[in-house]
Amino acid sequence: MTAAAGKGLEGVVASRTSLSFIDGLEGVLVYRGYNIHELAPNASFPEGVFLLWTGRLPTRSELDAFEAKLAARRGLDPRTLEALMSLPRDTVPMAALRTGISIEGLYDPDAEDNSAEANERKAVRLVARTPTLIAAIHRIRQGLEPLSPDPSLSLSADFVRMANGEPGTSEAVDALDRTLLLYLDHGFNASTFACRVIAATLGDMHSAVTGGVGALKGSLHGGANAKAMHTLLEIGELENVGPWLERAFAEKRKIMGFGHRVYKTEDPRATHLREMSRVLTQQAGLAKFYEMSRELEDQMISQKGINPNVDFYCATVYYALGIPIDLYTPLFAMGRMGGWTAHVMEQHADNRLIRPRAEYVGEVDLRWVAIGDR
Ligand SMILES: CC(C)(COP(=O)(O)OP(=O)(O)OC[C@H]1O[C@@H](n2cnc3c(N)ncnc32)[C@H](O)[C@@H]1OP(=O)(O)O)[C@@H](O)C(=O)NCCC(=O)NCCS
Repeated sequence: MTAAAGKGLEGVVASRTSLSFIDGLEGVLVYRGYNIHELAPNASFPEGVFLLWTGRLPTRSELDAFEAKLAARRGLDPRTLEALMSLPRDTVPMAALRTGISIEGLYDPDAEDNSAEANERKAVRLVARTPTLIAAIHRIRQGLEPLSPDPSLSLSADFVRMANGEPGTSEAVDALDRTLLLYLDHGFNASTFACRVIAATLGDMHSAVTGGVGALKGSLHGGANAKAMHTLLEIGELENVGPWLERAFAEKRKIMGFGHRVYKTEDPRATHLREMSRVLTQQAGLAKFYEMSRELEDQMISQKGINPNVDFYCATVYYALGIPIDLYTPLFAMGRMGGWTAHVMEQHADNRLIRPRAEYVGEVDLRWVAIGDR
């Protein structure tokens, strides 16, 4: 019997991808050849999605056409909206999103077609509609009517309008858009790997990304951005950081938004989000949360050698933008949808079933005992 790979498959290179590259020792993230530091200040989220799906940067007219295509497909199937309205009012948004995406799959005209052309059409609909779904979920739980998309607005601007009922400032929309770009893709992270496992059974795209949402929901993955904000609120004040952390270490608590399976140095996405957090919290009169974050970061690094990950500073970025905390992880999903769909297309284009083995550590030669004798 072959010995199992390390717990949690640490260090295992499961397959190949040409979508994104991570060097965890150097703190490098590359989408299709472009370092995230090149992209973050320059590319919009739809531009990043185009790059990921096609392998090249769009020309101006290609980007305009791509954005117009996304804009034209933002509207949800009315039956999806009806189903969302029947969910319990206290359904957590990630569970509602998981359900909503699955329901969209029921009505998708290409649902059972895994051809490259159908996958591309479904990917467009999924990236276009995830913002509409999240906004609708947020409106419905407040007892409000969901708003229809406005195709004249960018994907991020329309999300803000549909969620809040009024347009956001261009600074807020740009900041949100940048977080989506930073969340777009990240190698074989847990949710993406879940999508690829499902796709590799020749499962359809909606099944795969529904599984992705389920994997992202957990607090060791996407759920960490919301938990990180709750941590900061629990700490409350700058001077509480030290004592709070001491207690957390004593109780062996994981500090949400810190640590990473692959990065052993600064997560390059955190570099951008830290600066965004500094600027946005200051503008929103919430600078104390940035200062607390810096203090927590300094203490985590000096005491444990553990760096913040993408979710840590994203928490205060979203807080400064006034986004409800339980929408932070759905927003992660909104960005990662571009990556999940790209991975499904890559998997289907050169597929083999993903089916590892397990090292069995149980007994093998027990004898049957009749039920009355047990
Ligand atoms: C991301 C994460 C799941 C990676 O896990 P992993 O590679 O399995 O690493 P481990 O949980 O085995 O941690 C290795 C060591 O670092 C410590 N550690 C890792 N992340 C930590 C954190 N956030 N807070 C406190 N200690 C942490 C562990 O306690 C462990 O210490 P030990 O060897 O003394 O037991 C983990 O760092 C974590 O739980 N972070 C918090 C959740 C989070 O932010 N997730 C979003 C990831 S983008």
